[in-house]
Amino acid sequence: MTMTTTTATTAGRITLVTGAARGIGRQIATAFARSGHHVVIGDLPAAADTARAVADGLTGEGLSAGTVDLDVTDEDSVAAAVGRITETVGAPQVLVNNAGISRPAPTLETSLAQWNEVVAVNLTGQFLCARACLPAMRDAGWGRIIGISSFNAKSAPVNGDNASYAASKAGITGLTHNLAVEFGRDGITVNAIAPGIVDTELLRRAHPPQRLAELVDRLPTGRFTLPEEIAATAVFLAGDVAASITGEIVNVNGGLYFD
Ligand SMILES: NC(=O)c1ccc[n+]([C@@H]2O[C@H](COP(=O)([O-])OP(=O)(O)OC[C@H]3O[C@@H](n4cnc5c(N)ncnc54)[C@H](O)[C@@H]3O)[C@@H](O)[C@H]2O)c1
Repeated sequence: MTMTTTTATTAGRITLVTGAARGIGRQIATAFARSGHHVVIGDLPAAADTARAVADGLTGEGLSAGTVDLDVTDEDSVAAAVGRITETVGAPQVLVNNAGISRPAPTLETSLAQWNEVVAVNLTGQFLCARACLPAMRDAGWGRIIGISSFNAKSAPVNGDNASYAASKAGITGLTHNLAVEFGRDGITVNAIAPGIVDTELLRRAHPPQRLAELVDRLPTGRFTLPEEIAATAVFLAGDVAASITGEIVNVNGGLYFD
């Protein structure tokens, strides 16, 4: 378990972003740091160098950032990471459950191991991280949990071969609703963001470029959703101004579907 902290003084909130070494999580961490938070970039040990580079980039801007090794599927790893953050800079007040994987395969060719791998990261990981952070949030009477879901929780416009991913993301809806009710009187809001089609490594690995291009072309906005647009929504939901928004799944998807 390693943890690095470049700046120990934290004028703003302490925010843990999981899976923040790259992609959407990296932009979320950047947006929180630029909003005055001390941001902790939590990612797999294999991504430690990349996470460190992200943190160094932020501290190079004069912002407050650190990293922690974290496997969201591993109960002990999650507990150790939250414990280290708490000891070093204080308990996370904002948790962004961003870490996610996609393993597209036709259902009849999906093994139980593949199914379990996706559910473990995308859904159980969000539960484990929330459970580790909630006691301190409750004691403080303030907290924000923001899950990153997906358009796939509600629709399968790209193709129909990603049942494990769609089911894991739909599960985040139930988790979000339950936690919002359970901790609403403790000053904690629990919401999720359902991104649309964001040009990241996860997306490029999961879907052929031609299919993505056709889908993006059909969107009302006619373009990919930007990671910065997901990040700005997360910062908004974490603010005091959003205290009455809880239990929501916020679509940021260029009009991919309408609720
Ligand atoms: N890219 C899209 O179009 C899109 C659309 C909808 C939702 N999402 C969701 O947004 C989130 C971020 O996706 P992305 O596109 O940036 O993906 P990405 O693959 O670029 O980044 C995912 C990050 O999560 C980390 N990670 C994976 N397993 C982990 C684990 N067990 N513990 C800790 N960290 C782990 C990876 O190391 C990586 O840094 C995911 O939850 C994804 O499902 C993405």
